[in-house]
Formats: sequence, C-alpha cells, structure tokens
Amino acid sequence: MKDVIIIGTGEQAKIVADIILCAGDRLIGFLAGDPKMRSFLDRPVLGKDTDLNRFRDYWLFLAIGNADSRERLAALADGVKWYTAIHPAAVISRLNTSVGEGSAVMANAVINPFARVGRHCIINTGAIVEHDNVIEDFAHVSVGARLAGEVRVGRKTWIGVGATVRNGICICENCMIGAGAVVVGDITEPGTYVGVPAGPIEKKA
Ligand SMILES: CC(C)(COP(=O)(O)OP(=O)(O)OC[C@H]1O[C@@H](n2cnc3c(N)ncnc32)[C@H](O)[C@@H]1OP(=O)(O)O)[C@@H](O)C(=O)NCCC(=O)NCCS
Repeated sequence: MKDVIIIGTGEQAKIVADIILCAGDRLIGFLAGDPKMRSFLDRPVLGKDTDLNRFRDYWLFLAIGNADSRERLAALADGVKWYTAIHPAAVISRLNTSVGEGSAVMANAVINPFARVGRHCIINTGAIVEHDNVIEDFAHVSVGARLAGEVRVGRKTWIGVGATVRNGICICENCMIGAGAVVVGDITEPGTYVGVPAGPIEKKA
C-alpha cells in the first residue's frame, strides 16, 4: 500500500483521490495553491503546492488540469517519488505498453499494445489510446476521446472530450483539440483546432 499526497484541490484532484482509494492505496492529504486552505475531501491540506519537496517520504501526484501548471510544479521537484494513478477498471495492454510516472489512467480508458504514454499525462475516463500511439509528457486525452493507431500527441497537447483522431496522425505540442473535433490531417502549429474536419479556430476581429 502506498501513502499518497495529491498536489491540487480541483476537479482532477477529486478523480485521482477516487483512483487512489479504488487502487487500495492510502490518501494522506493534499497540497494546495491557496495557503489558507485547511482541508479537502475530509483530508488535511498539509502545505502549499510549491512545498512539494518537503514530502519526499510520500508518493506525490500532480492533479492539476492546466498543463503549464503541471509542468511548472514538476520542474520544482527534487528527488520526489511520483505516484502513477491507474484505475483498476482501466485496460492497459501488457504487450510493450508503458505509462510514465505521475500519469493518470482513469476508469474505462483503454491503452492498447505498443502505446507509450509519457510523464504527468492524463488519459481520462473512457478514452481510447490505440496501438502504437505516442502520448508525450503533460498531454491530456479527455473523456471519451479516441485516438486510432499510430497517433502521436505532442507535449502539453490537450485532446478535447469526444474528439477523434485518425490513424497515423501527428499533433504537435501545445495544441487544444476542441470537443467533438475529428482530426484527419497532421497538425504542425500549436493552436486551437475545432470541427469536422478539425481546423484552426477562427477568432473574431
Ligand atoms: C475549443 C475550445 C477550447 C474553445 O474555447 P474558447 O477559446 O473559449 O472558444 P469559444 O467558446 O469562445 O468559441 C469560439 C468559436 O469557436 C466555436 N467552437 C468552440 N468550441 C468548439 C468545438 N469544440 N467545436 C466546434 N466549434 C467550436 C464556437 O462556437 C465559437 O464560434 P463563433 O465564434 O462562430 O460563435 C472549447 O470550446 C472546447 O472545445 N474545449 C474542450 C473542453 C474539454 O474537452 N474538456 C474536457 C474535460 S475532460
């Protein structure tokens, strides 16, 4: 059994708290951005999120939706142990598949053979990461998104809820793929892409 402290007190923290309990590990408490916060989900807030290096005796998990914030806090870490949160109802192939430290794989997500998921990624509820995908560090595959085979998702890219990505597509770093989008061509410029087929969002003048 692992003793785990969650960094973050928002929506991601709730979901990861549940995974820790479902996995039979122990949730010790939280580190918060707000120094005045005292408790969350009936557990103590033990300090500020930037104090993470004081808690090296525990397993830590960065449960923060914003990828830039996750990256910034991960960069502060010095010798901490990152917890990898895998829901018992996630399906992860045993055939040459890896999930990096500090990542979360939520209930009913599927990760198929030869897929590689980086560090501090979120593979959300019911997301499908097909064979030979590469999901780079800090990326997020939202609820019910579907990545066909041999897709590459760049660092800090966020695939929105219910989006679909055709097989063999590369999406570069720092992209937001909107809810329900269908990506049928490579995306090589960071930005926000929506629609079917997905294209850059049109900003009004
Ligand atoms: C793509 C997204 C980030 C854009 O948000 P935004 O920058 O605030 O953009 P706006 O809501 O101002 O919309 C701008 C325009 O794009 C359109 N648009 C926004 N999201 C869209 C989407 N997913 N598909 C199609 N069109 C979309 C809007 O209708 C609007 O069009 P208009 O200018 O003609 O009225 C957001 O709508 C989205 O899809 N987020 C995904 C959230 C998600 O998946 N959460 C996961 C939780 S697990």
